[in-house]
Amino acid sequence: MNRPTSLPKPFDLARPIIGAPMAGGPSTPELVAAVTNAGGLGFLAGGYKTPQQLADQVTATRKLTVGPFGVNLFVVAANDADEEELDAYRRELQYDADRYGVEVGAQKWDDDMWTGKLEVINDLRPDVVSFTFNCPEADVLTTLNRSGIHTAVTVTSSAEAQTAAERGARTLIVQGPHAGGHRATFDPAAEPGTEPLPDLIRSISATLNLPIIAGGGISTRHEVQEILDTGAAAVQLGTALLLADEAGTNAAHRAALRDPAFTETKITWAFTGRPARGLRNRFMDEHDRRCPAYPQIHYITAPLRAAALANNDQQALHLWAGTGYRNARTGPVADIIADLIP
Ligand SMILES: Cc1cc2nc3c(=O)[nH]c(=O)nc-3n(C[C@H](O)[C@H](O)[C@H](O)COP(=O)(O)O)c2cc1C
Repeated sequence: MNRPTSLPKPFDLARPIIGAPMAGGPSTPELVAAVTNAGGLGFLAGGYKTPQQLADQVTATRKLTVGPFGVNLFVVAANDADEEELDAYRRELQYDADRYGVEVGAQKWDDDMWTGKLEVINDLRPDVVSFTFNCPEADVLTTLNRSGIHTAVTVTSSAEAQTAAERGARTLIVQGPHAGGHRATFDPAAEPGTEPLPDLIRSISATLNLPIIAGGGISTRHEVQEILDTGAAAVQLGTALLLADEAGTNAAHRAALRDPAFTETKITWAFTGRPARGLRNRFMDEHDRRCPAYPQIHYITAPLRAAALANNDQQALHLWAGTGYRNARTGPVADIIADLIP
């Protein structure tokens, strides 16, 4: 078996910890810089932001650390969403909208301002750029590689890893089935993979000789060691950092992660039209349908989620969390990481 190679220069880690990009608030410049300053490497989340907001965050992060950090972008593929199904879902959500006196959102597709964000990457040149939801075309990866920006693509299966390698990704971020937040599965209509993370790492590294960063449900020192023992060069932590002092996680989400009333996580398509793991709540249970239409459903539910947040209604919010959420602890990132280093 080929062992995944060690991480290349831009990572140069004192500690084999990558701070997962977490769009929607948690990944502040403070969080990203704190992970880097603790000897790991932090990632800004480019998803949902405008190019200007992303540029401002890169600049802000640079004021907080001289070390390397990455930027993550969503790769949003076109889809042929079923308009009738989307209309039916909008009608189904009317009850939730009436509860708050808001309108159900309009369905629309966009590419999350892909071109503008790539321009930000080219102008501001973060050390690493990672991609999720799909794999960019080979010319995008090749151009970035040639310009000295290290490329990483998130994959959830051997087939996706193969595609990423063929198109020029320099590092693979292997996301296992216990991960919090969106699954990176290229095809949101497909059943997200269930192969345990250590097995997935082994099968990918048996055929591809690229460095592997692995994440998904890792929340203890023992699990960090187990993943490093499979040959991963570093582990990627998301949920374990959600309660960190430096994270921008909202108060309702923070409280839910610590509330014993939430007893499990579950994968749902209901909030965004992409499979994502979060704390199981009423909204997930009532809208247990698989309508793989991202970002149309993200936009349809957006006003409802905003109203739920304003009303501190954890039963209608997307409370992204990996299966290890019970081990997430509060405090400075440096302490959280120190606790998890074998
Ligand atoms: C709140 C939240 C937001 C996330 N947002 C992103 C994102 O913007 N881009 C991305 O590549 N992954 C995102 N992820 C997934 C992480 O990159 C990573 O795969 C996951 O956090 C690992 O599992 P864990 O949460 O159990 O540590 C997010 C995860 C969480 C919990």
